[in-house]
Amino acid sequence: MNILGVSCYYHDSAAALLQDGVLVAAAEEERFSRKKHDNGYPKQAIEFCLRQAGLTADELDYVVFYEKPFQKFERILLSSLGYFPKTWAFFREAMVAWFDEKLWIKSKLQTDIGVPTDKILFVEHHLSHAASAMFCSPFEEAAVLTIDGVGEWTTATIGHATATFDGNGANRINLSKEMRFPHSLGLLYSVFTAYLGFRVNNGEYKVMGMAPYGQPNYMDKLDKIVAADDEGGLRLNMDYFSYHYSIQYGFSPKFVDLFGPPRRPESDFYTLTTNPNKDHPGWDDAIAAENQRFADIAATIQRFTEETILTMVNAAYTETGSKNLVIAGGVALNSVANGRIVREGPFEEVFIQPAAGDSGGALGAALYAYHVLLGKPRKFVMNHAYWGADYTEADMAETIKANGFTYEFIDDEEKLLDRVVDTILNERVIGWFRGRFEWGPRALGHRSILADPRREAMKEVVNTKIKFREPFRPFAPVIMAEQAAEYFATKNINNSYLTPYMLMVSPIVDDKQDKLQAVCHKGTGRLQSVRREANPGYYRLIEKFGQATGVPVLLNTSFNLRGEPIVNTPQNALNTFAKSDIDQLVMGNFLIRKKGERL
Ligand SMILES: [Fe+2]
Repeated sequence: MNILGVSCYYHDSAAALLQDGVLVAAAEEERFSRKKHDNGYPKQAIEFCLRQAGLTADELDYVVFYEKPFQKFERILLSSLGYFPKTWAFFREAMVAWFDEKLWIKSKLQTDIGVPTDKILFVEHHLSHAASAMFCSPFEEAAVLTIDGVGEWTTATIGHATATFDGNGANRINLSKEMRFPHSLGLLYSVFTAYLGFRVNNGEYKVMGMAPYGQPNYMDKLDKIVAADDEGGLRLNMDYFSYHYSIQYGFSPKFVDLFGPPRRPESDFYTLTTNPNKDHPGWDDAIAAENQRFADIAATIQRFTEETILTMVNAAYTETGSKNLVIAGGVALNSVANGRIVREGPFEEVFIQPAAGDSGGALGAALYAYHVLLGKPRKFVMNHAYWGADYTEADMAETIKANGFTYEFIDDEEKLLDRVVDTILNERVIGWFRGRFEWGPRALGHRSILADPRREAMKEVVNTKIKFREPFRPFAPVIMAEQAAEYFATKNINNSYLTPYMLMVSPIVDDKQDKLQAVCHKGTGRLQSVRREANPGYYRLIEKFGQATGVPVLLNTSFNLRGEPIVNTPQNALNTFAKSDIDQLVMGNFLIRKKGERL
C-alpha cells in the first residue's frame, strides 16, 4: 500500500511516502525550489517521492493532507471578523490567499498529482504532528505533547498514544487536552522573534542563540502579557499583540510601551558579555547597553518557554503515567528546552522526530492514515534522517567536469578519510556531500560543512568566511555516540533519541570545554551523536580525527550560505563551494579543490 503525505501553505512544505507503512522518501520543498522555508505547493518534493519509490500517481492508494483546510479557514474568518474593522487588510489578504488555492487543496491535489478525490484524506494538524512523533518512535505507548504556533484552532495538546508492533490492540492517539488560538506558546515566541529583529518562522533559533548572553530580567513585564496555569496552559493579554488582526506585526504599540523600541533587523549585535574587551569594530557603549536589553529580553522569553514546556511535560506525565514521551510541533525544535526536558523532566525516554515542525506533518498525516484510519500494525522506527534525494557517481562526475573543478576520485575510503583528516588538521574547512539529503532542518553528515572544533579561532573562520552569519550563533559538535557521555553532561546521553538529530543542547563537561572551544556556547553544545551503522563514512572520519587528536569530535554546520536552503544537488554544492571559502569538497568519493588549485 502506497500513501503519500503532503504539508503546505503555512511554512516548510514537504512530502513523504510510505510503502506498506515503511518510510521510503521524505523531503522539504525548499531543497528543490531553493526558496528557504518554501510554503508553496510541494510539487517537486512530491515528484521526488514518487521517483524515489519508482511509482506513478495511479499506484498511490491514498494522498493525505496534514490539516483540515475548512477548519483553518473558519479560524481565520472568525478571528479576523472578531476584530473588524481593524482587520480589514488582514481579512482581505487572507481571503485572497484562501480562495485562490488553500481552500481548494483537494482539487489541487486531484488535478496536480492525478488521483481521484476519494483517495484524498485530511488529518487534523495536531494529530499529524502527534503521529509524526509517535509512529516514528520505538515506543508502543507514550505520552504525547504537541506545541506549535497554530494549526486549525489548536496551539498545543497533551495526550496519550498506543500502537504495538505485533498488531495486538488498537492504534490510537488520544489528544485529551488542548490550548486554542490566540493563546499559543509558539506564537508568543514568534512575536519576540520579530521584536528582536529576526524573521518569524526562521529566526527563532537565533533568539535561542542570543539568550545565553542575557539574564531573564524582564519576567515581571512578561507576567503582564501572559499567564500560565499549572498545566502550562497560557492566557495571553491580546492588548499586547496584533497577530490576530495584522499581517505585518505580531506585537501592538502597547507591547513597545512595555518593552521599549524593537531591535532593528540586521543590526550589529555585541554586548559586554560577547566582547568583554570592547573589541567589536565600531564599539559604542550606548549600543552595547541597548543590545544587552535585547539579550535580556531573549533570555526572558527563552526561560519562560522552557518553564512552560517543563510544566506541560509534567502535566503530560501526571495525565498518562507513561515512562515515554514523544513531542512534535515547531516548539519541539527548541533544543535548549529539550535538554531541560531530558535532564529535569519525569520521563525515562524522550523521542522527537527530526522534522518536528510543519514539514513533519506530511509524514505524520501519512502515518496516521495507515495506522489509525486503516488500522494497520507498525513496522517502522525512524533511526536515521537520510530520506532525501541522492545522486550517482556518474551525476557527480559529469557536474564536476562541466563546472571545471580539479578533482581526484579516491576509491579507497580509508585513504580518502585520511586525506580529509589531514586537511582538517591544517585548519582547513571541508564541504561534505554524501548520500541522501537530510529530512528536517539540520545537516547531519550528508550535507555538512566540517572543521576542527578545538580552537576558538575556527568559529571565526567558519562564521565570517563561509557562513556569513551572526557571530552569536553557535556551531554544533558531532561526536561518536559511544563517547558522548565523556564530553556532555546529560544522563544516558549515549543512548539518547534526540542527539542523533541534533535536537538537544547539553552542558559540556567542565574539563572538556577547553578542548571544544569552537563548538562551546557558554558552556553548552547542541551535539549530534553518530553511530557507525547510521553513517559509516562520517563515523569513521570522526573516529580517525579522534585517533589523531584525542578528541573524537568535529565541528558540523549545515552546507549552505546564509539565507539559502541546505544544498541538494551536486550543482548546488559546487555553487556554494565556489562562492564560499570552503577549502575542499568531498562529494561521494570525489575530492574536489577550488578552480586553479592543484591537488
Ligand atoms: Fe504545526
